[in-house]
Amino acid sequence: MLKNYSIRLVLWLLIQLLVEVKCQTTPFRSTQRSSHTATLIDSNLYILGGRNDETGRIGNEFFYLDVSVPFNTQNILWHNLTSINIVPAHISAASVNGGANNKTLFLYGGSSDKVMSLVYTFDTQSNSWNIPKITGDNIVRKNNLKGIINNYGKMYLFGGLFNGTTTQNDMFILDTKNLKWELGSTINAPSPRAVYGATYVSEQHILYLGGFSTASSIDGASLSLKEIYYYDMLKDLWLTRVTSGTIPTDRDSFSAVLGLNGQKVIIFGGINNINKFTPQDTLYVLDLNNFEWYIPKISGSIPSSRYWHQANVIGKYMVISFGFGYDRNIDNDILLLDISNDEEYMWTNIFDPNEVKPTPPTESPKVSPTTTPIPVIIGVSIGTCVVIISLLIGGFYLYKWHKNKTENSRAIPTPGSEGNNNFNHEAFKITTRNSVYNHG
Ligand SMILES: *[C@@H]1O[C@H](CO)[C@@H](O)[C@H](O)[C@H]1NC(C)=O
Ligand SMILES: *[C@@H]1O[C@H](CO)[C@@H](O)[C@H](O)[C@H]1NC(C)=O
Ligand SMILES: *[C@@H]1O[C@H](CO)[C@@H](O)[C@H](O)[C@H]1NC(C)=O
Repeated sequence: MLKNYSIRLVLWLLIQLLVEVKCQTTPFRSTQRSSHTATLIDSNLYILGGRNDETGRIGNEFFYLDVSVPFNTQNILWHNLTSINIVPAHISAASVNGGANNKTLFLYGGSSDKVMSLVYTFDTQSNSWNIPKITGDNIVRKNNLKGIINNYGKMYLFGGLFNGTTTQNDMFILDTKNLKWELGSTINAPSPRAVYGATYVSEQHILYLGGFSTASSIDGASLSLKEIYYYDMLKDLWLTRVTSGTIPTDRDSFSAVLGLNGQKVIIFGGINNINKFTPQDTLYVLDLNNFEWYIPKISGSIPSSRYWHQANVIGKYMVISFGFGYDRNIDNDILLLDISNDEEYMWTNIFDPNEVKPTPPTESPKVSPTTTPIPVIIGVSIGTCVVIISLLIGGFYLYKWHKNKTENSRAIPTPGSEGNNNFNHEAFKITTRNSVYNHG
């Protein structure tokens, strides 16, 4: 009697699990893309825009990866939201997570051959896109720039490419809570640039480095990473610092993130005028305590370099998404660099969502007196809890049931398996890079 009941309960739980997993998503095979946006909101990494470099196609796909559950980069289960997307196919926009609820994707700029609003918002609570009305300064469209959000909900948009031809060095600030544009200072700002690296380093500072300038010659050029630039969000002013150590060669279109303890900036990939980087020349760390660059010790299988990708810090990983310059038969669209141990970073295929405690900083970075380490905490969705509890209960009864029957080998539950050909990808330098990489 009790045994019957147990078996029925186990079956019921298994069916619930199956239904839940099946209903959650239809499998989505993502196409390769570059110059997209990747925005982390709660435990979802939203991917929007970009261009497929094999077909030249920029699509309007909109999809996300749930990072509250483990996954293997060889077999990623994307969730397709394309049916609710209102943003035209575009490339090279900037995005952040902001808004009054701090759960809204803000998309600025980019380029499209369709009519496109300057700003779009996607409320992840209601799963709906909007075109917000924004007051304040008159702001133009730019592309190939980074959006950085601070704790007051202000989105900082430095430089970028204007009108497809000219790199800029002005600072647009979008107050995502009050929907108002402001302008930041350009005094002592870095020289005009696009496709630079940028990362939030503290409540006070954003760090900018490298990039590409259309000014330096007819074709333009990648910029040096010897000088780095802090924008002080509280005082609206710029500071320059000169770095030393193993300074990476000039580069643009790389990614930059802040390490887990707030003391290191990690850069990956990029391109130098005509040269793609070797795997050994693609990952560098800048120590913010002494402004010294070094090549970190790494383990795991080292991927080839790429550019026009995105990087987000999620849990203990630098999560690199898509990009150009890698072979999909060799490298995955998503790369994971475990950055939890400053002594040795590790390339891995397995994402473990468990929270990580960063190693405490030894001292505060010189330029950022107010820095406090902000570990990225991944919220675990209620759905996951339900699944885990179900598994636990199910497992318990399954165990009892098996014990009562014959000895059987234990099955370990595994995480879920699973047109615009003439569009100008970049108006600068692209002809040179085209001929070198047969881009497009
Ligand atoms: C995603 O959804 C859109 C709209 O429903 C559909 O047209 C498209 O084929 C889907 N993509 C994939 C790869 O399933
Ligand atoms: C917004 O949410 C993110 C996590 O999604 C958090 O890191 C950040 O501190 C929040 N910002 C504000 C202003 O609350
Ligand atoms: C943008 O560039 C085009 C030529 O490429 C030019 O005709 C137009 O005036 C420019 N617009 C602005 C606002 O500078």
